Amino acid sequence: MALQFNVSLKSFNTFGLDVKAKYFTEVNSLAELKSTLANNGTEATLFIGGGSNLLFTKDYDGLVIVNKIKGIVIEKETDESVYLKAYSGENWHELVQYCVEKNWGGIENMSLIPGTVGASPMQNIGAYGVEIENVFEHLEALNLETLEIEKFNKEACEFGYRESIFKRKLKGRYFIYSVTFRLSKQHHLKLEYGDIKTILAEQAINLEVATIKDVSNAIISIRQSKLPDPKILGNSGSFFKNPTIPVSHFDQLKIQFPDIKGFAQNEGIKVPAGWLIEQCGWKGKQIGNTGSHAKQALVLVNYGGATGHEVYQLAMDIIESIKEKFGITLEPEVNII
Ligand code: EPU
Repeated sequence: MALQFNVSLKSFNTFGLDVKAKYFTEVNSLAELKSTLANNGTEATLFIGGGSNLLFTKDYDGLVIVNKIKGIVIEKETDESVYLKAYSGENWHELVQYCVEKNWGGIENMSLIPGTVGASPMQNIGAYGVEIENVFEHLEALNLETLEIEKFNKEACEFGYRESIFKRKLKGRYFIYSVTFRLSKQHHLKLEYGDIKTILAEQAINLEVATIKDVSNAIISIRQSKLPDPKILGNSGSFFKNPTIPVSHFDQLKIQFPDIKGFAQNEGIKVPAGWLIEQCGWKGKQIGNTGSHAKQALVLVNYGGATGHEVYQLAMDIIESIKEKFGITLEPEVNII
């Protein structure tokens, strides 16, 4: 696509924020991406996949490149596994559905996560007890300086909770081109998290014979029951990460707030940010054109016409109130631009 100027990004970010990009283009192939980058000069560059993890606080004074590089291929197949390579512009949920239909297991718990394949290792997406790192084999990324493709195995990606090397040390230095997942032909269903078993029981599905499709459908119904559809109400999923605090801090809070929940995480305790936000009275509260969602406090929403700055201000106010009440500093999960 030829370069465009002064383009609205409203339909390219799930918050639905009406900011503009100075320059804008879409790429459908690696060759197109390379020539776009080679001709770009010194403009700042921002890659957008599904735009589901972005908060624009102002117009983007540079080049926005929307990734439309698609394709799904089997790289290798054994009796137990399929090594499936997906190009980074593929829609994540469509990939999940494709695998569920083929009866290849491992990513069904991550059904309905918005965004693209390329973003999935970037922040080690996860839901309902499974993260990308559990099925990740390797990825190919374009080095933005040399314009050469480099291969990263799992170790090289340095995955953590909603983290990878591409969000830290190598931030802004690579474009993720393809991701290869190892999917199973013999399934080990993960049913422990939240309401999965309850939903399956409600549908009279026997846990002994449940399929990956049953699990995917259960997850879809759980997500639809509490997460707002960005097409109807702008949002970018969980706005903050769930914080991990020292055990001593958690024990102290437990005395003052006996209902506080926590899950052991490495050396500390992971506390649900949604609970903290709810306790500070933000859940379901509308402030101007924005607010914390009524069914899941961790999701900030655009009720229509919100500016990124308004959402950012709300996020800062939430951080401050939680710091004051619990002594915990929440960290945004979304990329603030
Ligand atoms: N909770 C509340 N009030 C709320 C929301 C949650 O008290 O308003 C409590 C719940 O009762 C529950 C706990 O917090 O005990 C956890 O809630 P939930 O299962 O809804 O998950 P979460 O920790 O809020 C995380 C991910 C989600 C993912 C779900 C399910 C993060 C930042 N978010 O949310 O991912 O879908 O688990 O696995 O880790 C995303 O990253 O955008 C996202 C939606």
